[in-house]
Amino acid sequence: MHPQNIVILGTGGTIAGRAANVSDNIGYTAAQVGVEELLAAIPTLAQAGTVLTEQVAQVDSKDMSFAVWAKLAARVSHYLAQPDVQGIVITHGTDTLEETAFFLQALLAPAKPVVLTCAMRPATALAPDGPQNLLDAVAVARHAGAQGVVAVCAGVVHGAADVQKAHTYRLDPFTSGDAGPIGYVEEGRLRQLRSWPQAQAGRVQAAAGTIASLASTAVPRVEVLMNHAGAGGAIVQALQAQGVQGLVVAGTGNGSLHHELEAALLKAQAAGIKVVRASRCTAGRVLPTPADAIPDSDGLSPVKARVQLILQLLA
Ligand code: SIN
Repeated sequence: MHPQNIVILGTGGTIAGRAANVSDNIGYTAAQVGVEELLAAIPTLAQAGTVLTEQVAQVDSKDMSFAVWAKLAARVSHYLAQPDVQGIVITHGTDTLEETAFFLQALLAPAKPVVLTCAMRPATALAPDGPQNLLDAVAVARHAGAQGVVAVCAGVVHGAADVQKAHTYRLDPFTSGDAGPIGYVEEGRLRQLRSWPQAQAGRVQAAAGTIASLASTAVPRVEVLMNHAGAGGAIVQALQAQGVQGLVVAGTGNGSLHHELEAALLKAQAAGIKVVRASRCTAGRVLPTPADAIPDSDGLSPVKARVQLILQLLA
C-alpha cells in the first residue's frame, strides 16, 4: 500500500440500492450493489489515489444491529491503526446513519477522518446522488488535518454528535441543528467552518481489546420511550418486567414528562434501571435544573443518548 490510502467500507443503504425502473426513487431495494461496483461508477475516484474497499455488511440501515456495529468498529479500528491509511469512508443508509456515526465517534474518537456517506436515491436512478456524495466523502477523508467521525451528504459535512436526518425525501436530508455544519465540499475542496469532532469528556472510548470483544458481548437492552399527550407508566412497567437495563425518554420540550410516565420512570430508576431524559424536539437541548431527578442526555438526541447509554452500560 502507498501512503495516503483511503479505505472505503460498504455497509449497504440506498446508495447501494436497486430499483426496477430508473425513475423510481422510492420503490427500490436498499443494499444490493457491492462497494466495488459503486466505485466503478466514479472513474475519477481511482485517478485520485489509492482506494481500498471492503464490504463489511450489506443492510438496509433500518435493520442496523449492534452485531454490524461491532464488526464495523473492529474494521475501522484495524484500518485506522495502519500508518499508510489516511482516512476511512463508510457507505451507509441514511436512516440510522446518525446512530452509527455517533457510535463510532463515542467509541473510537479517531485522530484520522472517518467519513460516512450515503444517498437518497438508489444507484440505479436516472440521476443518482450517491456517486457525488462518495466523491465528496473521499475529498474530506483526504483533507489534511481532517479527524473524527463526520457525515458527508449533498456537499455538507456534519459532525457525528450533531448530525440528524430531518427530511424524508430531499437529497439534502441532514441537519446539524444549532451547531451548524462543519463545512461544505465544493468542487472537491472543503470549505471548513468549524472544528472537527473531538474526544469528549464523559463519553466512553474503547481500547482495542474492548472493540475486539464487542462482537461476543451481550448487548444491554436500552429502549427509547416518548412523552406525549396521554402518556402513562404501563410501558415502563412492562419493559421493567422484561429486564430492560436502560431507558431513554424523549420528553416534550425541555425534557418534560407526563406525571404518570415520570412516576413510573422514577420507580424504575430507584430499582436500578438507568434512565436518561432527552427531548423529542429536533433542535435545542434539555437544560438541566438542580431539581431534576432524572439526568438529561447532555445535548444528545434520544437515539444517540441510547447509544451512549449502551456504551456506558458495557463499560
Ligand atoms: C437505508 O437507510 O438503508 C435506506 C434509506 C436510505 O439510505 O436513504
